[in-house]
Amino acid sequence: MQPDIAVTFTGLKFTNPFLLSSAPPTESDSNIMRAFEAGWGGVVTKTIGMHPVTNVAGPKTKFLRSTLDGRLSMQKRPDTALHSSWNWELISDKALDWWIPKIESIKKAYPDRILVASIMAGSGSDKELAHWQDLAKACQAAGADAFELNLSCPHMDRKDMGSNIGKDQEQVSIVTEVVKQVATVPVWCKLTPSTTEIVEEARAAFNGGADAIVSSNTFPSLPLIDPETLEFEMNVDGLVSSGGLGGPAILPQSLAKMSQLTTAFPDKEFSGIGGISTFAHALNYMLLGCGTVQVCTAAMLDRAIGPNVIKALIDDMQQFMEKRGYTSLEQFRGMRRDNVVVHSKIRRPEGKDYRGGFDAEGYAS
Ligand SMILES: Cc1cc2nc3c(=O)[nH]c(=O)nc-3n(C[C@H](O)[C@H](O)[C@H](O)COP(=O)(O)O)c2cc1C
Repeated sequence: MQPDIAVTFTGLKFTNPFLLSSAPPTESDSNIMRAFEAGWGGVVTKTIGMHPVTNVAGPKTKFLRSTLDGRLSMQKRPDTALHSSWNWELISDKALDWWIPKIESIKKAYPDRILVASIMAGSGSDKELAHWQDLAKACQAAGADAFELNLSCPHMDRKDMGSNIGKDQEQVSIVTEVVKQVATVPVWCKLTPSTTEIVEEARAAFNGGADAIVSSNTFPSLPLIDPETLEFEMNVDGLVSSGGLGGPAILPQSLAKMSQLTTAFPDKEFSGIGGISTFAHALNYMLLGCGTVQVCTAAMLDRAIGPNVIKALIDDMQQFMEKRGYTSLEQFRGMRRDNVVVHSKIRRPEGKDYRGGFDAEGYAS
């Protein structure tokens, strides 16, 4: 008998803990249904807003690859390994009205799979805050099983949107509370990693009533400049703006954010994202305390929705559990959370003491 990899997260039953994150793999009903067919336990829709958006002219995403001699470039070359994805894509270019019938038909076809609606609006006025509630009410009436509040899109100029909300503890609390006032399903908050102390934004989200924290969205970054042309490898008319880095490069950084979160709130629920393409990667998030994990870049590069990625994730999790005699994720979730400590708690050679730089002894010899 195969070990049971089903999980319960924020009260919802998932057939497995692997979700497609909000991004191009989840931008349409056909993609989402293909994803469920391929075996993903849940799907977070591409972020839905009230109004259609207009993306930049030209590509919205590219992939940075490295050669063995360390040359990083977005150009397609032989013998390279994936380093990261870089994107400056906005939220869904299809607005709420387009999404509602799609959510209905997805849930009709896959009633047992978890469909999370990612939503986003402004927060600068009561009217804007009411948009969050309009989005939430419409999506849950259509059958969405949970919400993921996008408090983390890194490409918004407006100070009251996306990661600019995610950097403002007061706005994080207000938006979460406003959605909680009307939500009949769990509310997850996807925070930005682009903040000094993510624990404080998470605290604000929990104070507003959040059922879970999701981290990370992409990290702010620039494409590299081509040494031949002296142009950014990704640009429109020579111009670029800060975009989001995802994929393998952000795995260790995102784990550091997640560790801060799960250490600060050991009894709360977390969904981990960032650089996951194999079960070994996902396991890191689970051992730090995550109950589900999400995937974007790896799925984009695997037939748009990751059929091979999800198959390997499921097979390898089952094998891992079977080999170690685990019967549920709960038996190893958080197992390494408390191994991340302050620097002064790390053993010194020959029993020497170090008090974190608080006294002269710490620096001596
Ligand atoms: C092209 C692209 C579009 C994305 N769009 C969204 C979005 O609409 N909403 C959102 O919350 N995250 C969005 N993301 C972020 C991903 O969901 C995910 O958090 C991030 O890519 C890190 O995961 P990864 O390392 O597996 O790519 C997007 C990422 C990419 C690459």
